[in-house]
Amino acid sequence: MERMLVVGAGTMGAQIAMVCALAGHDTTVTDLTDDVLARAESSLRSRLDRDVANGRRTGDDVDAAFARLTFTTGLDGAASTADLVIEAAVEKLDVKRELFARLDKLAPPHAILTTNSSAIMSSQLADATGRPDRVANMHFFNPALVMRCVEVVGSSATSDATMEAVTELARSLGKEPVVLHKEIPGFVANRILGAVRDEAIFLLENGIATVEDIDTACRTALGYPMGPFELMDLTGIEIGYHAKLARHAVSGDPRDLPSRTVTELVERGDLGRKTGKGFYTYDESGDRT
Ligand code: 3HC
Repeated sequence: MERMLVVGAGTMGAQIAMVCALAGHDTTVTDLTDDVLARAESSLRSRLDRDVANGRRTGDDVDAAFARLTFTTGLDGAASTADLVIEAAVEKLDVKRELFARLDKLAPPHAILTTNSSAIMSSQLADATGRPDRVANMHFFNPALVMRCVEVVGSSATSDATMEAVTELARSLGKEPVVLHKEIPGFVANRILGAVRDEAIFLLENGIATVEDIDTACRTALGYPMGPFELMDLTGIEIGYHAKLARHAVSGDPRDLPSRTVTELVERGDLGRKTGKGFYTYDESGDRT
């Protein structure tokens, strides 16, 4: 497993690509426009410069990782040499199915095609390809440079060899793989997180406590590194919104629909840190105001 391709240079894709490059893989990250790629590169540069300044990494390691990392809009060329693809594009089933069909045509026959999604499972993508045994979910957590968990999930068509290869890769990236025995929307960590979020929203919508105080309770009573609202702002409020819609599409259970509060924020375009406003507001340098 030498050459990695990460499709999508958003918050997750950019950091996943850097995780691969830091672990020694030749990695290409693609997106639709040069603008998105330039933003991804500059945010990775400032992140890793901070790591070097704080003594978390050496300048040589970071330079070597950037030398292994290619940013390009040329998906077709990058796919043709990839041993493993991690798709981290928008959380929309039709977009992902189209991408997987395209990747299947372009990537070498041995290549494994994975998706970073937790809302869309590989069984929903595998039949868009001619290699369902080499399709799986490889689910990272935000921020991917820091969080150690990677959930590895196959469909009933995924081969044991694919599961083992993806698990081994996660380990070689310095991550802690968590292997699911069967598919379930949201997997393990996001299902637990979802239950906490639902309760936080319930408390907010019923006027029990403020956003700030609910977050404070989670940090100071439960030892969470961040409260649920701070975390939604970090990951992007639309991510949880789309995850809920995807879960509702499978279950039909009205309790799986996104909450009123989250729906209003998404409709206003207040998606969290990335837009400067979500449950909290942020200034230009990303500090809470
Ligand atoms: N990207 C990369 N690195 C980051 C980061 C980011 N967005 N935010 C923080 N870090 C790293 C930096 O190295 C930072 O040090 P620096 O500021 O000196 O550069 C270091 O973490 C410590 O950061 P802070 O002092 O600002 O804050 P914390 O000590 O609280 O750590 C945190 C930040 C690691 C993000 C921590 O708060 C945390 O673990 N939060 C919970 C994250 C979480 O639950 N993630 C899962 C989300 S669910 C998900 O991803 C599912 C998916 O499907 C959407």
